[in-house]
Amino acid sequence: MSKTAFITGITGQDGSYLAEFLLSRGYEVHGVIRRTSTFNTQRITHIFQDPHEADVHLKLHYGDVTDASSLSLLIRETEPDEVYNLAAQSHVRVSFDLPQYTAMVNGVGTISLLEAIRQSKQDVRYYQASSSEMFGASPPPQNEQTIFHPLSPYAAAKVYAHWVTVNYREAYGMFNCSGILFNHESPRRGRTFVTRKVTHGIAEILAKKIDVLYFGNLDAKRDWGYAPEYTELMWKMLQADKPDDYVIGTGESHSVRDLIIEAFSYAGLEWEKYIKHDERYMRPSDVNYLLSDPSKARKKLGWNPKVRFKELVRIMVDYDMLSVGLEPPGEGIEFLKKNGLLWSNSEETPG
Ligand code: NAP
Ligand code: GDD
Repeated sequence: MSKTAFITGITGQDGSYLAEFLLSRGYEVHGVIRRTSTFNTQRITHIFQDPHEADVHLKLHYGDVTDASSLSLLIRETEPDEVYNLAAQSHVRVSFDLPQYTAMVNGVGTISLLEAIRQSKQDVRYYQASSSEMFGASPPPQNEQTIFHPLSPYAAAKVYAHWVTVNYREAYGMFNCSGILFNHESPRRGRTFVTRKVTHGIAEILAKKIDVLYFGNLDAKRDWGYAPEYTELMWKMLQADKPDDYVIGTGESHSVRDLIIEAFSYAGLEWEKYIKHDERYMRPSDVNYLLSDPSKARKKLGWNPKVRFKELVRIMVDYDMLSVGLEPPGEGIEFLKKNGLLWSNSEETPG
């Protein structure tokens, strides 16, 4: 019997990779999509199946995590074995502009989904998309024991969601796992996150569409990994004997400035000529230094990231150059091929 998975946030970076992975393992996948006035399904177009055809394994449903009734109905109707809650207002800077909305989606949305599962009385394994942002001001390296000290409305809402996930596990015996994931990126990363802003910006500079890029804090350090490797671990967490929480990262950290230097030099550009500061990209409070200690995941899940900072930058620059019709240096794509990681052909049409 094939398993059934239910994914909120399926149209996002992680949701699209996870759906692809689960379909490749024979799952029936149900994804929640929001009603929007323009299409928001670019990242899953390549796996879309016409619902009128026979043997459809990917099924999309309108819903929203702020509408608890839609969640209850969908959980009852789809009867999932596994639920992955990836839906979020995921932009930290934007959470300062939309603090209550962010709390509703990231915080209350989580407890609404947990309640829908609990009340359905179905046997469900649940994954919560928690974040390294929850560590905030706590010094590195950060692991499962590190104290949360959120520095944004986004992170505070994620802390709430993390703790209700743990609470429902302890109070009701639910199989709930919280994955505390450090930053993970890909050619499908939203263009307003800093990695993609850099790599897509480089492609546009090379294509002579723009001649300057504006950034905020270049000193912040992040532990950046490759999204498809992280989404596979979400699944692994739910296959374990017992539910647990895990920190996932590469154990390597670099500043935003390092990222810019690495990407521009790979593309053969002098970064100082193109980078300018804009206050609007500064945050009222920013997380200075994230560096994971993923020992637990290494031991219990066999976690060993193949894609590290330099390869990640090359992969993203390559695909962004392709997306504007330029021939890339190709080292990133070559790395994916050599390591058997090129399992999707959809990166040239990223979201
Ligand atoms: P993303 O690309 O921004 O995707 C977010 C997804 O959530 C999209 O599918 C979005 O739908 C959906 N969504 C937003 N509000 C919703 C609502 N009210 N109801 C239903 N769906 C809603 O984010 P991501 O990078 O894939 O991240 C996935 C999850 O992991 C998020 O919860 C994020 O906070 C968390 N996380 C991410 C990272 C990272 O580095 N990527 C690290 C740690 C944790 P639309 O397409 O319609 O906007
Ligand atoms: N987005 C953005 N845009 N960030 C900038 C810019 C800019 O122009 N200039 C500097 N930065 C700095 C930010 O201040 C931050 O310190 C760092 O670059 C990374 O910013 P983002 O790429 O927006 O990611 P994030 O770390 O804030 O949040 C991401 O990772 C979290 C996990 O730690 C998101 O994916 C969150 O959803 C996720 O939980």
